[in-house]
Amino acid sequence: VFLPVILAGGSGERFWPLSRRHRPKQFLTLDETGRSLLQATSDRLSVLSGSPEQVMVVTGGEYRTQVLEQLPDMPVENLIVEPVARDTAPAVLYAALRVAQEAPEAVMGVFPADHRITNPGAFGRAVRRAIEVADSTGQLVTLGITPTFPATGYGYIQRGELLQDGELPAYRVSRFTEKPDAETARTLVADGRYTWNSGMFLWRVGAILDAFRQYQPEMYAQLSEALARGRSPGGIRAVFPQVQKISIDYAILEKSDQVAVIPAEFGWDDLGDWNALERLLKGEGQNVSVGRHVSLDTGGAILYTTRGDDLIATIGLEDVVVVRTDEVTLVVRKDRTQDIKKVVQQLKAHP
Ligand code: GDD
Ligand code: MG
Repeated sequence: VFLPVILAGGSGERFWPLSRRHRPKQFLTLDETGRSLLQATSDRLSVLSGSPEQVMVVTGGEYRTQVLEQLPDMPVENLIVEPVARDTAPAVLYAALRVAQEAPEAVMGVFPADHRITNPGAFGRAVRRAIEVADSTGQLVTLGITPTFPATGYGYIQRGELLQDGELPAYRVSRFTEKPDAETARTLVADGRYTWNSGMFLWRVGAILDAFRQYQPEMYAQLSEALARGRSPGGIRAVFPQVQKISIDYAILEKSDQVAVIPAEFGWDDLGDWNALERLLKGEGQNVSVGRHVSLDTGGAILYTTRGDDLIATIGLEDVVVVRTDEVTLVVRKDRTQDIKKVVQQLKAHP
């Protein structure tokens, strides 16, 4: 069996102020489909796994209600709630331990909740192939995307020798580099052997548990023992806040020598920050806007308002992002949108 798990517990700070603490990116509808990013992710995976009843979601307690509202066809018991967010490694381990209780032979899939995929057919073929490779080789299989610019917000995967030939060949991974600095990113893109890490993983549930046992023995012991204790003292609620806060990329993928990659193209975008809106609305170089706007001598601007009768007017500006919501107005240079995180941090410290 194939059991897909959606990671939906991120706080989406880079999309502030559209994403607020109570409504991060995965719950937003960013295009014309009427489906949020989480709903679209679940739709794709329901098709691949055969039914919405096979799809699981891991998220934080504060998002529980929103997930259930947005995914009414998902059985409540498929929702795995972390007591606190400790990044993706503890979330994945917790989900894997739960999957193993039900279906120890399953191939588990991990899928971020906030990606846009424009070619679902190609996505389906890549995932099916990855399930096959994960099942037949026992490797931790990642889906790789051909880089188009030296992104510093992604992981990079260097492919090594061929593992399994086929229409979509699988390679051993010789190196995994999570979020390089700008200079390193340029070198990796120029190298030609690297793909981006799409953040989607397929593995036998036993294989990922072995990897945690080997590379994160403390986290493995903490969570597996806590799960065995159930609701009693020393259970998940008490232990989760104590586990290390670390992503699956740093915790396992950079360390393991059992990682494979399947390079694939399926129209993928992480929609990591406001600049992604340009790609979404296909307006690179021109102004792109959601809502009413008037612009004089303005180039490459991204204008967004959530308020129906609002008007944004700009004069003589280049490469800026202007976002207006009910509570906030944000004006930021396009090359500084990664720093929105810092504003959010400051607001958290001094609300
Ligand atoms: N349940 C849960 N708990 N989910 C989480 C948590 C958590 O504590 N933190 C993040 N997530 C979810 C996010 O909602 C998102 O769907 C997914 O996990 C990935 O987290 P991000 O925070 O968006 O990761 P990233 O984009 O910085 O980096 C990862 O994805 C890139 C591709 O989009 C890495 O895997 C990179 O290597 C990769 O290139
Ligand atoms: Mg992301």
